[in-house]
Amino acid sequence: MEFPSRCGALAGLGLFWLQLAAPLGAALAPRSVDAGGVEVVPAAPVAWRAALPTPAAADHPPDGVHLALRSSSPAKDAVVDGWPDVLSLEFTEDVDPALSRVVLVVAGTEYGLASRAERPGAEVLVYEIPEGLPAGSVEVRWSTTGDDGHPVSGSFAFTVRAVQAAGAPAETAAPVGPPAGVGGRLEVGGRAEADGRTDAAGPQEERDPLQSPSQVALRAVFYASLIGLLGGALFFTRVVPSAGWRDGEEQLRNESAARTWRALRIAALLAVLATGLRLLAQQAVLRELLGEITLADVLDTTWGRGWLWQTAGITAAGVVVWLVRASASSARAVALITFLGVALVVPLTGHAAGEGSVVGVLNDAVHVAAAAAWIGGLAFLLAFARPVAGAPDDDPRRALRRLLPSFSRVALVVAPLTVLTGVVNYLLHGAGLAALLVDPYGRVVTGKTALVAVVLALGAWHNRRIEPGVAGGEDPARLVPSGSLELGVALVVVIVTSVLVATPPME
Ligand code: HEM
Repeated sequence: MEFPSRCGALAGLGLFWLQLAAPLGAALAPRSVDAGGVEVVPAAPVAWRAALPTPAAADHPPDGVHLALRSSSPAKDAVVDGWPDVLSLEFTEDVDPALSRVVLVVAGTEYGLASRAERPGAEVLVYEIPEGLPAGSVEVRWSTTGDDGHPVSGSFAFTVRAVQAAGAPAETAAPVGPPAGVGGRLEVGGRAEADGRTDAAGPQEERDPLQSPSQVALRAVFYASLIGLLGGALFFTRVVPSAGWRDGEEQLRNESAARTWRALRIAALLAVLATGLRLLAQQAVLRELLGEITLADVLDTTWGRGWLWQTAGITAAGVVVWLVRASASSARAVALITFLGVALVVPLTGHAAGEGSVVGVLNDAVHVAAAAAWIGGLAFLLAFARPVAGAPDDDPRRALRRLLPSFSRVALVVAPLTVLTGVVNYLLHGAGLAALLVDPYGRVVTGKTALVAVVLALGAWHNRRIEPGVAGGEDPARLVPSGSLELGVALVVVIVTSVLVATPPME
């Protein structure tokens, strides 16, 4: 590609990131928790710990190893005499108060609570309850974020019975209006909502917005683009150079390399765009649940740092691939570094990173690299079956004839490696073989494995039937129908994977 068009592409990339940086920049603004009248209670002295009610055991049974509310005080559905001083929530894993929000809905009015800095454990959040709230039915709406960046929210209800102080007239459970200093408005991180929302009536189920169809689709696009980037990088480094070109085919080899590099650039651009879109979507989910959050709060978490590395790694790879020419002596090294580097940053936001398992992260990196070399490589191979404008009719077919056995040799290594590391992934995150048909995570893995079996069967058909035929002089375009089917089923595997990574594995 000529210099001016490369500059244009890079300028477009720069504009895209500026666009992305704007909301992140806004997120850097300090969080205001007291605007609009929400009382900010200073951290209580250590002495309050003794007075802190212990959360009741397992009144909110967790359904997996993903973050869930384990218990609360007051407990779910409890009836308490008078308002307690604090509300405490115990989760199944450590939680960060800066990335958690709790709102009480009392008599149709929402009150955003301020958390106490001191808490009995890293998995417990403690919130001051303002004075003067009316008795009656209370809905607690909570949102927080797990170690793997998974935002989770839910709600539960309890009832406060009016207590009658000695000599005082009986307090009624009727709404008494917003307490002094609270103002009856919800302010979470500066975002105000109107009083008395009417949807506050019934308790909701815990929900995980990352499992919504749009989030699943976005993750699938993200994975597909990464598979293209990694697959193309390995195709350029390994498959094209060792394709057994004959004497006199130097030009065809160079053209094949240039063609692969052009497609690699498009894959790199798509991967950078998909990474940015995914980041924006994640940010929207976090904002919806938590209100404004600061970048510092996010970067204080394992997943926040994972996002940073992932975004930086994929963007750097995209920029370098666009800057370097296919004919440059450094092109193969760039492609190899892209392959290894991007494979290493992908698992930094997944279950393995959330669990803090180095073995899990490395195994996942090998899994992603192997799966991408296999499926992404197949996509690049099939692209050679398309006639190229201006090229003699024979050229793409001749290239395909050379590239097919070279790709096959790579696929024979990476396909079993994908299955092996996929099984290890499941053994590390899943609940064992018995859960494969029982729990939701196991069932998704079972479905994924069944689809992968179809992809493997089609691959074996190509290896045993098509490849020997092509070596014997048959038209290599015979690969296209069943190769496209193999690629199509593999794309369904990618969609299933994007459901899998948002499904809580059982303990
Ligand atoms: C065509 C074949 C396959 C492709 C394209 C593929 C792709 C992927 C991708 C992109 C990830 C996400 C990695 C991340 O975000 O960290 C993943 C994770 C995973 N894969 Fe595969 N995979 C394939 C085959 C398999 C097989 C055969 C198994 C099981 C036997 C498997 C089990 C898993 C598991 C358990 C995870 C971890 C999900 C989590 O974080 O909870 N995969 N795979």
